[in-house]
Amino acid sequence: MAFSFNFDVEVETDPSLLGAAEEKPKLEKEVLQEDKNNEAGKHQESRMETGVKKAKEHIPPQDCEHLLENTVTETFSLGTLPPIHYLNESVLEQTASERADREMILSQNIGSHSDLISGVYEGGLHIWECTIDLLEYLESVGETFSGKRVLDLGCGAGLLGILALKRGAKEVHFQDYNSTVIEELTMPNVLLNCDDDDVDDEEGDSDSAASKKKSPELPPQAGLTKCRFFSGEWTSFLSLVLSSDPPPQYDLIFTSETIYNTAYYPSLHEVFLQLLVPAGLVYLATKAHYFGVGGGLHLFESFVEQKDVFNIKSLKEVEEGLKRHVVALSFKKRD
Ligand SMILES: C[S@@+](CC[C@H](N)C(=O)[O-])C[C@H]1O[C@@H](n2cnc3c(N)ncnc32)[C@H](O)[C@@H]1O
Repeated sequence: MAFSFNFDVEVETDPSLLGAAEEKPKLEKEVLQEDKNNEAGKHQESRMETGVKKAKEHIPPQDCEHLLENTVTETFSLGTLPPIHYLNESVLEQTASERADREMILSQNIGSHSDLISGVYEGGLHIWECTIDLLEYLESVGETFSGKRVLDLGCGAGLLGILALKRGAKEVHFQDYNSTVIEELTMPNVLLNCDDDDVDDEEGDSDSAASKKKSPELPPQAGLTKCRFFSGEWTSFLSLVLSSDPPPQYDLIFTSETIYNTAYYPSLHEVFLQLLVPAGLVYLATKAHYFGVGGGLHLFESFVEQKDVFNIKSLKEVEEGLKRHVVALSFKKRD
C-alpha cells in the first residue's frame, strides 16, 4: 500500500482561484510554475475560466468488467471490518497507455513523482494514512451505516465510501478532483467490492444481501446502482449537485487528507453546509500540519470557529511521527 507522509507540492495555478477563496493561502513553499512546457498543464480537460476543473458526473459503463482489465488487486483487512479490495496504483501507471487518462496524470507518472500539483492533480491516486486512521476509528466503534446516505469527499481510492457501501449504506456518492482517479481507480474499486458476500443490505441483513448478490438476475455490479461518481473542484461540484432535483443530502460525509490548503476551506465548508442534513456528521481525518502547503487542523478549526456553523469534536489522535487527528463536525444547535 502506498502511503505518503509529507507533501511535495507544485502549484500550477494561483491557488486562491481554487474554490471561493476568501483569503490568500498561507503557502510555506510555493513552487510556481516556471516550466511553461509542463506537459501536465497542456492536457487539462474541462477547465473553468478560473483554471480549475469543472465538475462532472461519471456514469459507470454498462459493461463494467473492462474496468478491471490489466489490473492488480490488493486487499485491506482490519479487525472486524469487511475486507476492502483496491487496485494497485503502480500497475495503473504502468498500463497508462491502455487507459482513459485525458488528464495525463497516469501516463506521466505524476502520482509517483508528486504528492500533488495544485489545480492539476490533488493526490487521489495514493491511499493516504489518515484514511487508515479513520477506518481504524470506525472499526473500534463498530460503526455501521444502515440506510445512510454517504458522501466520500476527496475520495481518491474510495475506501471509506466502500466501507459504508459494504456496511449497509443506502447510497454512496464519491467525489474526487481528478476524473482519471474516478474512472480508473474509484469506480473499479467500488466494482471490485460489489460482489462480496459480506456486503450488507440497507437494513444490515447480510444474509439476505448475500443471497441477493448471488442471484443470477443481479450481476455483481448491481451494487454500483447505489453509487454516484463526480469529479471536479468543490464549488463546481456543489453547483452541479444543487442543480439536480432533488439535490442530494447526506447523513454522513467522509473527508480524509483534504484540509492541506487553506485556499480550499471556504468551498469545503460550503459543501458541508449545503449538503449535510441537520443531524448529520462529517468525519474528517487529517494531519495536524501539512508542511510545504501550510494547512492543517489548527487553521481549519479556526476557520470553522469563525464561521460559527459547526462544532468540532476530537475522536482520535495518533502521536506517531507527525501528529494526526480524526474529528467530527456537526451543526451547532440553534434556538
Ligand atoms: C491528499 S488526497 C486524499 C485522498 C483520499 N481521501 C485519501 O485519504 O487517501 C486529497 C483529495 O482531496 C480532493 N481535493 C482536494 N482539494 C480539492 C478541491 N479544491 N476540489 C475538489 N477536490 C479536492 C482531491 O480529489 C484529492 O483526492
